Amino acid sequence: MSEEIFKKVVSHCKEYGFVFPSSEIYDGLGAVYDYGQNGVELKNNIRQYWWRSMVQLNENIVGLDSAIFMHPKIWKASGHIDGFSDPMVDNKDSKKRYRADNLLEDQIDKYIKNGKTQKAEELQNNLDQALTDNNLDALKELITTHEIACPVSGTRNWTDVRQFNLMYKTQMGALAEDADDVYLRPETAQGIFVNFLNVQKTGRLKIPFGIAQTGKAFRNEVVARGFIMRMREFEQMEMQFFVRPGTEMDWYQHWKESRMKWHLSLTSDVSKYRFHDHVKLAHYANAAVDIEYQFPIGFKEVEGIHSRTDFDLSQHQQFSGKKLQYFDPEINQNYVPYVVETSIGLDRMFLLQMCNAYKEEQIQNGEQTETRTLLALHPALAPVKLAILPLMKKDGLPELARKIMDDFKFEFNCFYEEKDAIGKRYRRQDAIGTPFCITVDHESLSDQTVTIRHRDTMFQERVKISALKDIIAPQVSMNNLLKNLL
Ligand code: GAP
Repeated sequence: MSEEIFKKVVSHCKEYGFVFPSSEIYDGLGAVYDYGQNGVELKNNIRQYWWRSMVQLNENIVGLDSAIFMHPKIWKASGHIDGFSDPMVDNKDSKKRYRADNLLEDQIDKYIKNGKTQKAEELQNNLDQALTDNNLDALKELITTHEIACPVSGTRNWTDVRQFNLMYKTQMGALAEDADDVYLRPETAQGIFVNFLNVQKTGRLKIPFGIAQTGKAFRNEVVARGFIMRMREFEQMEMQFFVRPGTEMDWYQHWKESRMKWHLSLTSDVSKYRFHDHVKLAHYANAAVDIEYQFPIGFKEVEGIHSRTDFDLSQHQQFSGKKLQYFDPEINQNYVPYVVETSIGLDRMFLLQMCNAYKEEQIQNGEQTETRTLLALHPALAPVKLAILPLMKKDGLPELARKIMDDFKFEFNCFYEEKDAIGKRYRRQDAIGTPFCITVDHESLSDQTVTIRHRDTMFQERVKISALKDIIAPQVSMNNLLKNLL
C-alpha cells in the first residue's frame, strides 16, 4: 500500500461517478466534495447499515434529526466557542497558512526518515507538552529552533502562532442590526444533548438508552488534506448513550467492542484495524479510544468512542437554567446521566470502503495479460447489485432483458446496458463493484436461462431466470449482514 494507490483510489472515485470536487467548473472549492451517481448509493448504504445496526437492532436506541442551526449559547456551553480551535501560523512571504502542529509533525517524520530518531522523539515530547499547555509561544519557538521552512516560499519568515476557531459563523435574521450570530454545527452530538429530555420523556425511555443521529457537520479546517479524509463540510453518524453514573466504564467497553465488530463485519482483513487509546484525555472525558484503519497513507482515525461523563448535560443545564436530570426509579434518585459516545465520519468510512475494496488484478485474456480494476465492496453496500446485459441489441434480447429488469428493480438497485462488447461492459461493472452481471442471449429466449457472472471470481454459470432471485438476494441482503452482528 502506498501514496500511489491512494492517488489511484482518488481518481477512480472521480472517473466512475463516486466523488467529484465541489464546483469543479469554477476550479473547485477547497476540501468540499460532491457525491456522484454511484457515490450517493454507496454512502446511503453505509449510512443505512449504521442506522439499522444502531436504531433497529437495539431496542433502547432511538433516532433524531435535529437542525443544523442551534442557539448560539449551545456552543458556549459545549466549549466550542472558546476551545474548538487549531494553532496556526502564516508564512509572510508565501502568505500560506499552516497548522503549527502539522508543520512540526512533518518535521518529526523527516527526522524519522533520516534515521534521527532521538531528535524525532525529543521534538514529539516538546510538541505534546506545548499542545497540552496550550502554549502558542512554545510552538513558535519549536518552529524556529528546528529551522522549519515554508514548503512554498522556502523561507522561515513566520508570524506568531495564533488560535483559529474552526466554526463557521453566519447571521440569522434579515436586518444586519437585528441579526444574531449563529454557527454551522461542528458536530451533530450537541443536537442530541439538548434534546435529551424531549426524547426521554416523549419516548418514556429508561436509562440506559441511546439517541442516534446522522447529519452534516462543518469545520473550517486550516489544512484540509487527504481528499475526503478531512473536509470542511462532512457527515457524521453519532450515538450518545445515556447511563447511570458509575456504570460508564462497562458501557464504554461494550460500545468499543460492538463498534469494532460492526467494522470487521465489512472486511476480511482484520489486521487493517486497530484501537488507539487516547493517553491525554480531553477535560470532559474519562476514557477515549479511536478505531483506526490502515489507509494506503497510513493508520488514520475513522471513529471515536468517548466516555464524556456528565460534562455536556451539566454544561447545558448550567447555561440554559433548565434541569436536565433523570429520575431513576430503580435507585430512587435524580441525576444528570453520564454519556458514552460513538462518533464516526460517514465520508471517512466511505473512503475506507473505497480503499479496502480497490483491487488491480492481472488476468489472462487469450494471449494477452491485462489489468482488471475492481471494487470488491461487500455486496450489501455495492451501489448496483445486478447489471442486466443483453448480448445484442436485436432479436428480442433487449425485450427479455427489460422484462427481467422490471421484475428485479423492486428488489434492489439494477443497471441495464446494451452498448459495447460484453467484456467491456463487465469491466465497467467490476469498476463500480457490481457483484452480479447477467447476460441475456439467444438461448435465453428458448430455455429461459441466462449467464450469471460473479464479480470477485469472474466465474460464469448458466442458470434459470426463475432461480436468479435465490442466488442474488441472500448475498446482497443487508439483513444478513445485520444478523451477523448479533
Ligand atoms: N462528537 C465527537 C466528535 O465530533 P471528532 O473526533 O471530532 O469527534 C468524529 O469527530 C469523527 O468525525 C472522526 O472520527 C472522523 O471520522 C470524522 N471527522 C471529523 N472531522 C472531519 C473532517 N474534517 N472531515 C471528515 N471527517 C471528519
